[in-house]
Amino acid sequence: MKEKIKSLVKNSLEQISDCNSLKELELIKIEILSKNGSFANLMKDLKNIPNEQKPFYGKIINEAKSEVLNVFSTKSSILNEQEQNAKEKKEALDVTLSKKYNIGAFNPINIVKQDISNIFIGMGFSLADGPEIELKKYNFDLLNIPEDHPARDFTDTFYITENLLLRTQTSGVQVRVLEKEKPPIKIICPGKVYRPDDDATHSPMFHQIEGLYIDENVTLKDLKKTLEEFAKLFFDKHTTVRFRPSFFPFTEPSVEVDLSCSMCHGKGCNLCKNTGWLELLGAGVVNPVVLEKSGLDSKKYSGFAFGIGVERAAMIKYGIPDMRLMFDNDVRFIKQFKF
Ligand code: PHE
Repeated sequence: MKEKIKSLVKNSLEQISDCNSLKELELIKIEILSKNGSFANLMKDLKNIPNEQKPFYGKIINEAKSEVLNVFSTKSSILNEQEQNAKEKKEALDVTLSKKYNIGAFNPINIVKQDISNIFIGMGFSLADGPEIELKKYNFDLLNIPEDHPARDFTDTFYITENLLLRTQTSGVQVRVLEKEKPPIKIICPGKVYRPDDDATHSPMFHQIEGLYIDENVTLKDLKKTLEEFAKLFFDKHTTVRFRPSFFPFTEPSVEVDLSCSMCHGKGCNLCKNTGWLELLGAGVVNPVVLEKSGLDSKKYSGFAFGIGVERAAMIKYGIPDMRLMFDNDVRFIKQFKF
Protein backbone atom coordinates (compact mmCIF):
# COMPACT_ATOMS: atom_id res chain seq x y z
CA MET A 1 0.00 0.00 0.00
CA LYS A 2 2.78 2.38 0.97
CA GLU A 3 4.45 1.78 -2.38
CA LYS A 4 1.21 2.44 -4.21
CA ILE A 5 0.75 5.77 -2.40
CA LYS A 6 4.36 6.76 -3.03
CA SER A 7 4.19 6.01 -6.72
CA LEU A 8 0.86 7.83 -7.12
CA VAL A 9 2.30 10.94 -5.46
CA LYS A 10 5.45 10.76 -7.59
CA ASN A 11 3.45 10.20 -10.73
CA SER A 12 1.02 13.02 -9.96
CA LEU A 13 3.76 15.53 -9.17
CA GLU A 14 5.55 14.64 -12.40
CA GLN A 15 2.40 15.09 -14.44
CA ILE A 16 1.67 18.44 -12.81
CA SER A 17 5.20 19.65 -13.28
CA ASP A 18 5.28 18.67 -16.99
CA CYS A 19 1.96 20.32 -17.69
CA ASN A 20 2.02 23.52 -19.79
CA SER A 21 -1.52 24.81 -19.92
CA LEU A 22 -4.52 25.33 -17.66
CA LYS A 23 -6.60 23.18 -19.95
CA GLU A 24 -4.22 20.25 -19.59
CA LEU A 25 -4.01 20.85 -15.83
CA GLU A 26 -7.76 20.58 -15.58
CA LEU A 27 -7.63 17.15 -17.25
CA ILE A 28 -4.92 16.00 -14.84
CA LYS A 29 -7.06 17.17 -11.92
CA ILE A 30 -9.97 15.06 -13.14
CA GLU A 31 -7.70 12.05 -13.57
CA ILE A 32 -6.06 12.29 -10.14
CA LEU A 33 -8.30 14.20 -7.76
CA SER A 34 -11.90 13.75 -8.91
CA LYS A 35 -14.49 11.42 -7.39
CA ASN A 36 -13.37 8.60 -9.66
CA GLY A 37 -9.75 9.72 -9.78
CA SER A 38 -6.61 7.92 -8.66
CA PHE A 39 -6.78 9.07 -5.02
CA ALA A 40 -10.43 8.09 -4.70
CA ASN A 41 -9.56 4.65 -6.10
CA LEU A 42 -6.79 4.29 -3.57
CA MET A 43 -9.28 4.98 -0.79
CA LYS A 44 -11.48 2.25 -2.17
CA ASP A 45 -8.49 -0.14 -1.95
CA LEU A 46 -8.49 0.36 1.83
CA LYS A 47 -11.24 -2.17 2.11
CA ASN A 48 -8.72 -4.89 1.24
CA ILE A 49 -6.41 -4.19 4.15
CA PRO A 50 -6.82 -5.24 7.80
CA ASN A 51 -9.18 -3.05 9.83
CA GLU A 52 -6.62 -1.87 12.35
CA GLN A 53 -4.39 -0.52 9.56
CA LYS A 54 -7.17 1.38 7.84
CA PRO A 55 -6.94 4.63 9.88
CA PHE A 56 -3.16 4.72 9.42
CA TYR A 57 -3.32 4.38 5.63
CA GLY A 58 -6.36 6.58 5.38
CA LYS A 59 -4.39 9.34 7.05
CA ILE A 60 -1.39 8.81 4.79
CA ILE A 61 -3.55 8.87 1.69
CA ASN A 62 -5.21 12.09 2.82
CA GLU A 63 -1.88 13.73 3.56
CA ALA A 64 -0.53 12.64 0.17
CA LYS A 65 -3.63 13.98 -1.52
CA SER A 66 -3.34 17.36 0.16
CA GLU A 67 0.34 17.55 -0.79
CA VAL A 68 -0.62 16.92 -4.42
CA LEU A 69 -3.45 19.46 -4.09
CA ASN A 70 -1.01 22.10 -2.84
CA VAL A 71 1.36 21.57 -5.74
CA PHE A 72 -1.60 21.56 -8.03
CA SER A 73 -2.90 24.94 -6.89
CA THR A 74 0.57 26.52 -7.03
CA LYS A 75 0.98 25.26 -10.58
CA SER A 76 -2.51 26.50 -11.42
CA SER A 77 -1.74 30.05 -10.34
CA ILE A 78 1.59 30.06 -12.20
CA LEU A 79 -0.07 28.90 -15.41
CA ASN A 80 -2.91 31.34 -14.93
CA GLU A 81 -0.50 34.25 -14.67
CA GLN A 82 1.50 33.07 -17.68
CA GLU A 83 -1.60 32.74 -19.83
CA GLN A 84 -2.91 36.12 -18.71
CA ASN A 85 0.40 37.79 -19.59
CA ALA A 86 0.47 36.16 -23.01
CA LYS A 87 -3.09 37.31 -23.70
CA GLU A 88 -2.34 40.88 -22.66
CA LYS A 89 0.75 40.92 -24.81
CA LYS A 90 -1.23 39.72 -27.80
CA GLU A 91 -4.04 42.24 -27.33
CA ALA A 92 -1.87 45.16 -26.30
CA LEU A 93 -2.04 48.35 -28.37
CA ASP A 94 1.34 49.12 -29.82
CA VAL A 95 1.30 52.90 -30.14
CA THR A 96 4.47 52.91 -32.19
CA LEU A 97 2.78 50.89 -34.91
CA SER A 98 1.13 53.83 -36.71
CA LYS A 99 4.58 54.96 -37.85
CA LYS A 100 4.58 52.01 -40.20
CA TYR A 101 1.42 53.17 -42.02
CA ASN A 102 1.23 55.67 -44.84
CA ILE A 103 -1.02 58.58 -44.04
CA GLY A 104 -3.32 59.38 -46.94
CA ALA A 105 -3.75 62.70 -48.70
CA PHE A 106 -6.57 64.54 -50.42
CA ASN A 107 -6.74 64.36 -54.19
CA PRO A 108 -6.18 67.88 -55.67
CA ILE A 109 -9.66 67.62 -57.22
CA ASN A 110 -11.17 67.48 -53.74
CA ILE A 111 -8.90 70.21 -52.42
CA VAL A 112 -9.83 72.55 -55.26
CA LYS A 113 -13.52 71.65 -55.06
CA GLN A 114 -13.49 72.49 -51.37
CA ASP A 115 -11.47 75.71 -51.81
CA ILE A 116 -13.74 77.02 -54.57
CA SER A 117 -16.88 76.10 -52.62
CA ASN A 118 -15.58 77.85 -49.51
CA ILE A 119 -14.92 81.06 -51.43
CA PHE A 120 -18.47 81.19 -52.79
CA ILE A 121 -19.96 80.18 -49.44
CA GLY A 122 -18.05 83.15 -48.04
CA MET A 123 -19.86 85.34 -50.60
CA GLY A 124 -23.25 84.15 -49.38
CA PHE A 125 -23.88 81.22 -51.73
CA SER A 126 -25.29 78.04 -50.21
CA LEU A 127 -24.82 74.44 -51.35
CA ALA A 128 -27.36 72.72 -53.59
CA ASP A 129 -27.36 69.17 -54.91
CA GLY A 130 -28.79 67.21 -57.82
CA PRO A 131 -28.66 63.63 -59.17
CA GLU A 132 -25.84 62.38 -61.39
CA ILE A 133 -28.32 60.12 -63.19
CA GLU A 134 -30.49 62.86 -64.59
CA LEU A 135 -33.65 63.22 -66.62
CA LYS A 136 -33.21 64.51 -70.16
CA LYS A 137 -35.73 67.18 -69.13
CA TYR A 138 -33.34 68.78 -66.62
CA ASN A 139 -30.10 68.22 -68.51
CA PHE A 140 -31.42 69.62 -71.81
CA ASP A 141 -35.12 70.50 -72.31
CA LEU A 142 -35.71 73.00 -69.52
CA LEU A 143 -32.30 74.55 -70.20
CA ASN A 144 -33.56 75.63 -73.61
CA ILE A 145 -31.24 73.26 -75.45
CA PRO A 146 -32.86 72.57 -78.85
CA GLU A 147 -33.83 69.07 -79.90
CA ASP A 148 -31.20 69.03 -82.65
CA HIS A 149 -28.33 70.40 -80.52
CA PRO A 150 -25.16 68.30 -81.03
CA ALA A 151 -24.62 68.02 -77.24
CA ARG A 152 -27.69 65.78 -77.14
CA ASP A 153 -26.10 63.35 -79.55
CA PHE A 154 -25.25 59.90 -78.17
CA THR A 155 -21.62 60.58 -79.13
CA ASP A 156 -21.62 63.45 -76.61
CA THR A 157 -23.85 62.05 -73.86
CA PHE A 158 -24.01 58.73 -72.00
CA TYR A 159 -27.65 57.68 -72.27
CA ILE A 160 -29.17 55.11 -69.93
CA THR A 161 -32.60 55.14 -71.54
CA GLU A 162 -34.15 57.57 -73.99
CA ASN A 163 -35.07 59.91 -71.13
CA LEU A 164 -32.40 59.10 -68.59
CA LEU A 165 -28.71 59.96 -68.86
CA LEU A 166 -25.52 60.64 -66.92
CA ARG A 167 -25.63 64.41 -66.55
CA THR A 168 -23.23 66.18 -68.89
CA GLN A 169 -23.25 69.38 -66.84
CA THR A 170 -24.30 70.58 -63.40
CA SER A 171 -26.56 73.20 -65.04
CA GLY A 172 -29.60 70.94 -64.57
CA VAL A 173 -29.42 71.78 -60.87
CA GLN A 174 -30.22 75.40 -61.80
CA VAL A 175 -33.64 74.27 -63.03
CA ARG A 176 -34.21 71.92 -60.11
CA VAL A 177 -33.56 74.80 -57.70
CA LEU A 178 -35.65 77.31 -59.71
CA GLU A 179 -38.59 74.90 -59.61
CA LYS A 180 -38.45 74.60 -55.83
CA GLU A 181 -37.27 77.93 -54.45
CA LYS A 182 -38.30 81.56 -54.67
CA PRO A 183 -35.73 84.35 -55.30
CA PRO A 184 -33.42 85.55 -53.94
CA ILE A 185 -31.61 82.36 -54.94
CA LYS A 186 -27.87 82.13 -54.47
CA ILE A 187 -26.51 78.60 -54.79
CA ILE A 188 -23.49 76.64 -55.88
CA CYS A 189 -23.57 72.97 -56.78
CA PRO A 190 -20.30 71.02 -56.91
CA GLY A 191 -20.61 67.60 -58.53
CA LYS A 192 -19.56 64.95 -61.01
CA VAL A 193 -20.48 65.17 -64.69
CA TYR A 194 -19.94 62.71 -67.55
CA ARG A 195 -19.06 63.01 -71.24
CA PRO A 196 -17.63 60.50 -73.74
CA ASP A 197 -14.23 62.26 -73.98
CA ASP A 198 -10.85 60.90 -72.94
CA ASP A 199 -7.49 62.61 -73.52
CA ALA A 200 -4.89 64.70 -71.66
CA THR A 201 -7.36 67.51 -71.00
CA HIS A 202 -10.66 65.57 -70.94
CA SER A 203 -11.91 62.74 -68.76
CA PRO A 204 -15.17 60.75 -69.15
CA MET A 205 -15.98 61.79 -65.58
CA PHE A 206 -15.01 65.21 -64.29
CA HIS A 207 -16.24 67.81 -61.84
CA GLN A 208 -18.02 71.10 -62.22
CA ILE A 209 -19.21 73.73 -59.81
CA GLU A 210 -22.39 75.36 -60.93
CA GLY A 211 -23.31 78.81 -59.62
CA LEU A 212 -26.68 80.52 -59.80
CA TYR A 213 -27.74 83.91 -58.49
CA ILE A 214 -31.30 85.12 -59.13
CA ASP A 215 -32.87 88.25 -57.70
CA GLU A 216 -34.28 91.56 -58.87
CA ASN A 217 -31.83 93.60 -60.97
CA VAL A 218 -28.94 91.13 -61.17
CA THR A 219 -26.80 91.95 -64.21
CA LEU A 220 -23.73 90.87 -66.17
CA LYS A 221 -21.76 93.40 -64.13
CA ASP A 222 -22.56 91.47 -60.94
CA LEU A 223 -21.31 88.31 -62.63
CA LYS A 224 -18.04 90.00 -63.57
CA LYS A 225 -17.51 91.40 -60.05
CA THR A 226 -18.28 88.04 -58.45
CA LEU A 227 -15.91 86.09 -60.73
CA GLU A 228 -13.16 88.71 -60.39
CA GLU A 229 -13.40 88.47 -56.63
CA PHE A 230 -13.35 84.68 -56.84
CA ALA A 231 -10.29 84.66 -59.14
CA LYS A 232 -8.31 86.91 -56.79
CA LEU A 233 -9.13 84.74 -53.79
CA PHE A 234 -8.57 81.41 -55.51
CA PHE A 235 -5.45 82.22 -57.56
CA ASP A 236 -3.76 85.41 -56.37
CA LYS A 237 -4.67 89.02 -55.86
CA HIS A 238 -3.14 90.10 -59.18
CA THR A 239 -5.40 87.81 -61.22
CA THR A 240 -7.80 89.56 -63.56
CA VAL A 241 -10.62 88.10 -65.65
CA ARG A 242 -11.67 88.67 -69.21
CA PHE A 243 -15.06 87.98 -70.77
CA ARG A 244 -15.26 86.71 -74.33
CA PRO A 245 -18.59 86.40 -76.11
CA SER A 246 -19.82 82.82 -76.28
CA PHE A 247 -23.04 80.88 -76.64
CA PHE A 248 -25.02 78.68 -74.29
CA PRO A 249 -28.75 78.15 -74.90
CA PHE A 250 -29.53 78.75 -71.22
CA THR A 251 -27.69 82.07 -70.86
CA GLU A 252 -28.10 85.26 -72.88
CA PRO A 253 -25.66 86.91 -73.23
CA SER A 254 -23.16 84.10 -72.70
CA VAL A 255 -19.49 84.48 -71.97
CA GLU A 256 -16.34 82.42 -71.82
CA VAL A 257 -14.32 83.59 -68.85
CA ASP A 258 -10.52 83.74 -69.08
CA LEU A 259 -8.02 84.40 -66.30
CA SER A 260 -4.80 86.31 -66.66
CA CYS A 261 -2.14 83.58 -66.80
CA SER A 262 -1.06 82.59 -63.29
CA MET A 263 2.44 81.71 -64.53
CA CYS A 264 3.47 84.71 -66.68
CA HIS A 265 0.86 87.28 -65.59
CA GLY A 266 -0.06 88.14 -69.15
CA LYS A 267 3.39 88.18 -70.79
CA GLY A 268 2.90 84.88 -72.58
CA CYS A 269 4.31 81.46 -71.67
CA ASN A 270 3.89 77.75 -72.38
CA LEU A 271 0.96 77.33 -69.97
CA CYS A 272 -1.14 79.99 -71.70
CA LYS A 273 0.21 79.13 -75.16
CA ASN A 274 1.61 82.67 -75.37
CA THR A 275 -1.81 84.30 -75.17
CA GLY A 276 -1.46 85.58 -71.59
CA TRP A 277 -4.93 84.16 -70.81
CA LEU A 278 -6.28 80.85 -69.54
CA GLU A 279 -9.81 79.69 -70.26
CA LEU A 280 -11.57 78.74 -67.03
CA LEU A 281 -15.33 78.64 -67.27
CA GLY A 282 -18.57 79.31 -69.08
CA ALA A 283 -21.13 81.75 -67.74
CA GLY A 284 -23.80 84.26 -68.62
CA VAL A 285 -27.01 86.00 -67.73
CA VAL A 286 -29.73 83.40 -67.23
CA ASN A 287 -31.89 83.27 -70.34
CA PRO A 288 -35.40 84.62 -69.50
CA VAL A 289 -36.76 81.57 -71.34
CA VAL A 290 -35.26 79.33 -68.66
CA LEU A 291 -36.80 81.43 -65.88
CA GLU A 292 -40.23 81.33 -67.56
CA LYS A 293 -39.99 77.56 -68.21
CA SER A 294 -39.50 77.15 -64.44
CA GLY A 295 -42.46 79.40 -63.67
CA LEU A 296 -40.58 82.55 -62.68
CA ASP A 297 -41.52 86.07 -63.80
CA SER A 298 -38.59 87.08 -66.02
CA LYS A 299 -39.68 90.73 -65.99
CA LYS A 300 -39.23 90.88 -62.26
CA TYR A 301 -36.26 88.58 -61.81
CA SER A 302 -32.93 88.21 -63.51
CA GLY A 303 -29.66 86.54 -62.65
CA PHE A 304 -26.43 84.97 -63.69
CA ALA A 305 -25.06 81.44 -63.84
CA PHE A 306 -21.61 79.98 -64.24
CA GLY A 307 -20.03 76.52 -64.49
CA ILE A 308 -16.44 76.07 -63.33
CA GLY A 309 -14.43 73.03 -64.43
CA VAL A 310 -12.79 71.78 -61.23
CA GLU A 311 -10.02 69.74 -62.90
CA ARG A 312 -9.26 72.67 -65.19
CA ALA A 313 -9.00 75.01 -62.18
CA ALA A 314 -6.65 72.51 -60.47
CA MET A 315 -4.49 72.18 -63.60
CA ILE A 316 -4.15 75.96 -63.83
CA LYS A 317 -3.55 76.50 -60.13
CA TYR A 318 -0.93 73.78 -59.72
CA GLY A 319 0.46 73.66 -63.29
CA ILE A 320 -0.65 70.02 -63.78
CA PRO A 321 0.07 69.12 -67.42
CA ASP A 322 -2.20 66.06 -67.79
CA MET A 323 -5.67 65.67 -66.30
CA ARG A 324 -5.28 61.88 -66.09
CA LEU A 325 -2.67 62.28 -63.32
CA MET A 326 -5.50 63.29 -61.02
CA PHE A 327 -7.40 60.07 -61.68
CA ASP A 328 -4.46 57.65 -61.35
CA ASN A 329 -4.42 57.98 -57.56
CA ASP A 330 -0.65 57.58 -57.34
CA VAL A 331 0.12 58.76 -53.78
CA ARG A 332 3.47 60.20 -54.89
CA PHE A 333 1.51 62.61 -57.07
CA ILE A 334 -1.36 63.22 -54.67
CA LYS A 335 0.86 63.89 -51.65
CA GLN A 336 2.30 67.02 -53.29
CA PHE A 337 -0.89 68.96 -52.63
CA LYS A 338 -1.67 70.46 -49.28
CA PHE A 339 -5.17 70.95 -47.99
N1 PHE B 1 -22.87 74.07 -68.37
C1 PHE B 1 -21.89 74.77 -69.16
C2 PHE B 1 -20.83 73.74 -69.62
O1 PHE B 1 -20.82 72.64 -69.14
C3 PHE B 1 -21.21 75.85 -68.39
C4 PHE B 1 -22.16 76.98 -68.04
C5 PHE B 1 -22.81 76.98 -66.84
C6 PHE B 1 -22.39 78.01 -68.93
C7 PHE B 1 -23.67 78.00 -66.50
C8 PHE B 1 -23.23 79.04 -68.61
C9 PHE B 1 -23.88 79.03 -67.39
O2 PHE B 1 -20.01 74.02 -70.46
